[in-house]
Amino acid sequence: MAKARISVVGAGLMGHGIAQVFAVAGHAVTITDALSQNLDTVTSRIAANLRDLGEDEGAVKRVRISADLAEAVRDADYVVEAVSEDLPLKQQLFADIERHVRADTILASNTSVIPITAIMQGLANRERALGTHWWNPPYLVPLVEVIETQWTSAATLATTMALHEAAGKKTAHVKKDVPGFIGNRLQHALWREAISLVEHGICDAQTVDAVVKASFGRRLPVLGPLENADLVGTDLTLAIHNIVLPAIESRPEPSPYLQKLVAEKKLGFKTGEGFRKWTPAEQAALRSKVTAHLKSMQDL
Ligand SMILES: NC(=O)c1ccc[n+]([C@@H]2O[C@H](COP(=O)([O-])OP(=O)(O)OC[C@H]3O[C@@H](n4cnc5c(N)ncnc54)[C@H](O)[C@@H]3O)[C@@H](O)[C@H]2O)c1
Repeated sequence: MAKARISVVGAGLMGHGIAQVFAVAGHAVTITDALSQNLDTVTSRIAANLRDLGEDEGAVKRVRISADLAEAVRDADYVVEAVSEDLPLKQQLFADIERHVRADTILASNTSVIPITAIMQGLANRERALGTHWWNPPYLVPLVEVIETQWTSAATLATTMALHEAAGKKTAHVKKDVPGFIGNRLQHALWREAISLVEHGICDAQTVDAVVKASFGRRLPVLGPLENADLVGTDLTLAIHNIVLPAIESRPEPSPYLQKLVAEKKLGFKTGEGFRKWTPAEQAALRSKVTAHLKSMQDL
């Protein structure tokens, strides 16, 4: 797909960033959304991101907005869906999309954790469907996990990997369609233990975050967990696992501590308190710190 026609369905946080990456890579992008307010602001949001990155705003000219789903996907070579994380919504959307696209148009979902098999099972042609899991913000975090189902054709997979690599993304091929794919399984295994440490009074939330940031978090950008296991030795890793695995959290359901926070409307930034309290200034400071850090990592 040298210069492809790409349709992005959903112009929210992820959709506008995905559209931006493809437009910067030179593709003709059409973006659609059910909410006119999100569609009307999409090009100005992309332009603001490009300005902030110091990149050429000219790419915005390659992003066309369309309020009509059928019109938005009709001529597409590749469609990626980034609507709300809701299985029936995504299933219905792909049923609608399939009625309007060519037989060889590739269909991808950007779901965070829903198995692609569940989303795509109702399609007439499931060989051209797969998952592409981007990370927020799509133009600053390099990874896209490309998830195949039992039905995905080799050609669909190869074209999708090549499309994203040519757009500057790092791809990871997920060979089995498991909930959470690779990145979110790893991330939420850590979050489960982090919450458990607080729940059991071993430390407070700030301490959990401070420990991660000042210890193995420092090494993570250059040393993955299995590189680290080889570095210290698989024998030492086994000895550690014999002691620590029986002691760490293994509950198959969300922590009661987390459930209580949600029941009490302690929803984090949205309500000013979650695991800890957040003033608007603290929220803004953390957001800009993360963005500045991700920008500084661009050359790694
Ligand atoms: N936010 C993240 O960090 C992140 C990361 C990776 C993947 N994802 C996944 O990406 C998807 C989108 O997440 P988001 O954070 O961009 O959400 P968002 O709420 O910012 O955007 C979702 C958009 O979908 C639109 N939408 C809803 N129903 C629609 C329909 N029927 N047709 C067209 N548009 C419709 C909404 O109007 C909204 O603009 C979700 O599946 C989410 O799990 C999110």
